[in-house]
Parts: sequence; structure tokens; C-alpha cells
Amino acid sequence: MANVPYVGCGVLGSALGMDKEKMKMVFSSISLPIVDYLVYRRNEWVRSPETIMDAIEQHLGYSCFVKPVNLGSSVGVNKAHNRGELEHAIDVAAEYDRKIIIERGINCRELECAVLGNDEPLASVVGEVEASNEFYDYNAKYIDNKSQVIIPAAIPQVTAEEVRRQAIKAFLALDLSGLARVDFFLEKETGQVYINEVNTLPGFTEISMYPKLWEASGLPYSQMLDRLIELAIERHADKQRNRTSR
Ligand SMILES: Nc1ncnc2c1ncn2[C@@H]1O[C@H](COP(=O)(O)OP(=O)(O)O)[C@@H](O)[C@H]1O
Ligand SMILES: [Mg+2]
Repeated sequence: MANVPYVGCGVLGSALGMDKEKMKMVFSSISLPIVDYLVYRRNEWVRSPETIMDAIEQHLGYSCFVKPVNLGSSVGVNKAHNRGELEHAIDVAAEYDRKIIIERGINCRELECAVLGNDEPLASVVGEVEASNEFYDYNAKYIDNKSQVIIPAAIPQVTAEEVRRQAIKAFLALDLSGLARVDFFLEKETGQVYINEVNTLPGFTEISMYPKLWEASGLPYSQMLDRLIELAIERHADKQRNRTSR
């Protein structure tokens, strides 16, 4: 609103990057592979928990992941192995958001790809996160310091190419700009890649995945920062080309 250049995504891209339901709707509209999911409103949950749990058991089964639709850092995210855990997990997620998403649980490796650019974004090499827990929960992300980052991920080249292609497709479809980290699941049994989410404000310390992926792709930290600033100025200049009255 102040018409000042800034690094990173605009309003729409940032909002889509937060909302796991709308993000998935965009992904499926361009045929990016996503895991099966269901979304419920908190009010529906309070009114008819048994019906909702029946539907989840019928359509997704166990294990499944329960999350607040708008959050992150694995806060409020739980894996449910049975009906008792499912009920508890939905109650927890409903404390954080009025929308709750439930996804089929995948037995997977977790891959991440960094994207940099505006209208012609580039994708980095692919990295892997090896969570120190049963899944990449808050503790594994920030507390126990035992999760491993492997760059580049030891995966077939065709899989890495597929991840990079999907990362760029997602970036453009969600109207992102500047930067995003795009996260994937690689199903162990099938080798199938699923896109999980984009993070429009990825961790950004020197040891975080986003800068590490660019380092490994030949773009050192300071040059990456320069590039981000250039991209902000470029997008701002592009916006100045718009007429604002007839
Ligand atoms: N459908 C799923 N199948 C398997 N693991 C999942 C699934 N959804 C989430 N996870 C696990 O939970 C973690 C956090 O979920 P995610 O959707 O990335 O939420 P956040 O926005 O909090 O990072 C993932 O990194 C992964 O370890
Ligand atoms: Mg995540």
C-alpha cells in the first residue's frame, strides 16, 4: 500500500501459502499430485464429531495427519493411528484455527526445493530432511537438534527433475514472487512424489535449508541476498507500469 519495494510474496501468494486447503485447491487445478484430504469447519466438528470421524475413516483411513489449515512449524499437527487419537488430534487442531484439514498419512521421505525469481523463477538442487521423530514435528524441527539435512538428496535424477519442475509450477500457480521453499513427500513404497506445501517465509539463518540449497546450487548467501533485493526492485518497477486510472 505504501508503494515501497519489498522482498517476497505479495498478498495473494502469502495468503495462499498459509492456507493449506486453498493451496491444495490450486495445486489440484493444475494437476500437481497431492495426498487425499478432507477439510472441516470447527462448528461442524462440534456439532457432529462421530459423522466426521466415520467419513475420515472411510475416505482416508489410518494413519492420517490432522492440522490447523492456517498455521506452520508443525504447531497443532498430529498423526492419528486410531479413532481415539483422531478425536484428540482434531480437538487440538480446532484450538488453533476454525478450519481443520485431515490428510492420508504417507510413509515417506521428505524433500525440499528452493525457488528464487519472479515471473521466470529458478529451482535449486533438491534437499532431504531426515526427521528425528516419527514425523517432522515441532520438537524435531526446533528442539532436539537431531534432524539431518542431506544436500543434494540421494534420489534418482528423474525424481529430482520432477521435484524441481513441480516446485516451479507451484510457485507460478500460487502467484508467488521473490522466494519460496517448496516441500514434497516421496512415498517409499511407490516412489511417487506428492507436493506438500510451499513456505513463503522459509527459515533463513545460514544453517537453514533455503540458503543451503542455493549454496549447493552455486549461489552463495550474500549473492542470494543481492538477488532477492534485485527481484524486489524489479517487481516494484513492473508494478509502476500499471495504469491506476483510465
Ligand atoms: N500427509 C502426510 N503424510 C506423512 N507425513 C505428513 C503428512 N502431512 C504432514 N506430515 C508430517 O508433518 C510435518 C508437518 O506438516 P506440514 O504439512 O508440513 O505442516 P507445517 O506447515 O506445520 O510445516 C511434515 O513435515 C511431515 O513430517
Ligand atoms: Mg511443513
